[in-house]
Amino acid sequence: MNRPVSSLVDNKKPIVALDIGTSKVVAMLAYADEQSFNISAIGQASCDGIKKGMVVDIQKTVQAIQKAVQELQSISQVKIGNIDIGLSGYHVVGINSHGAVAVKNQEVSGDDVGRAIESARAVKLANEQQLVHTFMQEFSVDNQEDIKDPIGMTGVRLELKVHLVATSITASQNVIKCARRCGLESNKLVVNPFASSLSVLGKDEKELGVVLVDIGAGTTDIVVCYKGNIRHIEVLPIAGDQITNDISMALRIPTTEAEEIKIKYGVARQRLVNPSEHIQVHDVGGGYKKISRQLLAAVIEPRLDELFRLILDVLKKSGYEHVIASGFVFTGGSVNINGFLDLANSVLRKNCRIGMPNYHGSLRDVVTDPKYSSCIGILQNAYQEVEHNFNHKHKNKPVMQAAKKAWNWLIGSF
Ligand SMILES: Nc1ncnc2c1ncn2[C@@H]1O[C@H](COP(=O)(O)OP(=O)(O)OP(=O)(O)O)[C@@H](O)[C@H]1O
Ligand SMILES: [Mg+2]
Repeated sequence: MNRPVSSLVDNKKPIVALDIGTSKVVAMLAYADEQSFNISAIGQASCDGIKKGMVVDIQKTVQAIQKAVQELQSISQVKIGNIDIGLSGYHVVGINSHGAVAVKNQEVSGDDVGRAIESARAVKLANEQQLVHTFMQEFSVDNQEDIKDPIGMTGVRLELKVHLVATSITASQNVIKCARRCGLESNKLVVNPFASSLSVLGKDEKELGVVLVDIGAGTTDIVVCYKGNIRHIEVLPIAGDQITNDISMALRIPTTEAEEIKIKYGVARQRLVNPSEHIQVHDVGGGYKKISRQLLAAVIEPRLDELFRLILDVLKKSGYEHVIASGFVFTGGSVNINGFLDLANSVLRKNCRIGMPNYHGSLRDVVTDPKYSSCIGILQNAYQEVEHNFNHKHKNKPVMQAAKKAWNWLIGSF
């Protein structure tokens, strides 16, 4: 659904993002102006109703959303009605596709672009799947390839490559249902991998080639970008929760205790730990026991090592392995573990960095945290839409008007 033109800028209506993560629900409210957006409130609640990014308990998820949104409302003093929601989970799949059409009047128009995108979107989806995003890659007009904007060019045949993102209808509807039970209506669904890439990656990185990896509690979201566009999106069902489970099983301690010691004392590399260091933990029987911190690292390291190798497999499968000049950018709560980059560098053997959401407005100190990358990306996506509509209203060039239909496809507002 498209928002009314510039309503957010002109009427000072807020944009609200809801990230329903496996470990927490976050809601953020921001106001847009011509330059940027400013976050004015955050609400947050821990959540037990989500597993691997998908709703498994509606009641618990509703409670968490309610708590986060109530907090947001009481801080902002704004009654929240419409929101943009982030979708995650193993059901999010990326598909490469290709479209081609005859150019109608020998000069490529917005309408031709719209038809080419429609043709690229005509793919057979698995049962129970729906398309949520269409990311444009390159156009070609006749034999000329690698065109970013073909409108106005002369030619007879227009082709383009796209990366489509599909999600499970049931999984998406469960999320929408949870939001509705809290009195919220979704403006738009945005997949979290895309959202994180929007808030974390720099323009040059995307141009040179980069892999964005958001490691949360239930999922690892992977986005490959090259020449400024999204080339591949994939979600792995392995993340921080698996590390916690491994610790709980290996050390025979309750999961809550395993989560706590992972965050407090966890290290991604055994070699970084002093062998004489010990920590005291609760065991399953309710007593205490002493374990070596190196043993804790010995549980964490192989799981993270395995995850890095799975990420490499995804990159190889995407076909962009040899063009990733900017390397890997990691975000999401799980990258906070000590020694994370040390292990990442040794397994991946490419440039690796931790990516924070790239945001410079109010509440910056609070939201500059890798766990908020996807939520800020959802705001960013909404803002880009507002900004685009704003430019339309104020510039109103005929060529821009012609491209509006095409743009609506590209930003996924269908
Ligand atoms: N210092 C730390 N060391 C190790 N792990 C950490 C640390 N801080 C946070 N984590 C882990 O980060 C994860 C939460 O990250 P995040 O908030 O990005 O996930 P989420 O958005 O709720 O889940 P998902 O995106 O997978 O659905 C948890 O598994 C938590 O244990
Ligand atoms: Mg997340």
